[in-house]
Amino acid sequence: MSALIEPYTERLYLRQWRASDREPFAQLNADPRVMAFFPTLLDRATSDALADRMEAQIAKQGWGLWAVEDKTTHGFIGFVGLSIPPPDLPCSPSVEVGWRLAFPHWGKGFATEAARAALRVGFEQLHLPEIVSFTAVCNHRSRRVMERLNMREAPDTFMHPRLPVEHPLAEHCLYRLRQAEFQPQP
Ligand SMILES: CC(C)(COP(=O)(O)OP(=O)(O)OC[C@H]1O[C@@H](n2cnc3c(N)ncnc32)[C@H](O)[C@@H]1OP(=O)(O)O)[C@@H](O)C(=O)NCCC(=O)NCCS
Repeated sequence: MSALIEPYTERLYLRQWRASDREPFAQLNADPRVMAFFPTLLDRATSDALADRMEAQIAKQGWGLWAVEDKTTHGFIGFVGLSIPPPDLPCSPSVEVGWRLAFPHWGKGFATEAARAALRVGFEQLHLPEIVSFTAVCNHRSRRVMERLNMREAPDTFMHPRLPVEHPLAEHCLYRLRQAEFQPQP
């Protein structure tokens, strides 16, 4: 067990998961708009199991994919944070910054704001030399978040090893950010 890190921003808390997050998390994982760039929607059991894994990872190492709470409403809006990609991805070993927000909370700058707080933890508290992010090449909304964070696109795409090569989501792009390139302010 490591000391729990729970960063916050002007508008958001990034915090450990709570039992009450499971219901809204299952709703967003069942929303085709949110899951458009994932191979399948998640049923309640799979969504809960994912939340359990994220909670356990934060409990173990102090950081991870945090539940994000709107400071004004105290409502759960999704997750943002840091994770360790599977070892068979071409960017491994590495630490990834990632995000998934409920549809009503898109278009407000929340993902970029929370991701900047996660990057700050990665660079300033964990002293990581580099953080990566990747997504299906057609996920332009997510790529725009990477670009707003000053991440640089790697020259080559890669085929995700968990998807058949002919799958429309198989081709992934990779973005990298070195510690010296991190801009803590917008
Ligand atoms: C990817 C995802 C998190 C991006 O959300 P987003 O709301 O587009 O991203 P941001 O939080 O950075 O918000 C930026 C938008 O908010 C707007 N905005 C409004 N108020 C703002 C503010 N105060 N500050 C900054 N931006 C603001 C920006 O103009 C921008 O709008 P635009 O996209 O029309 O140009 C969201 O689409 C999502 O959860 N998708 C599903 C999951 C997914 O695909 N995850 C990635 C898998 S690898």
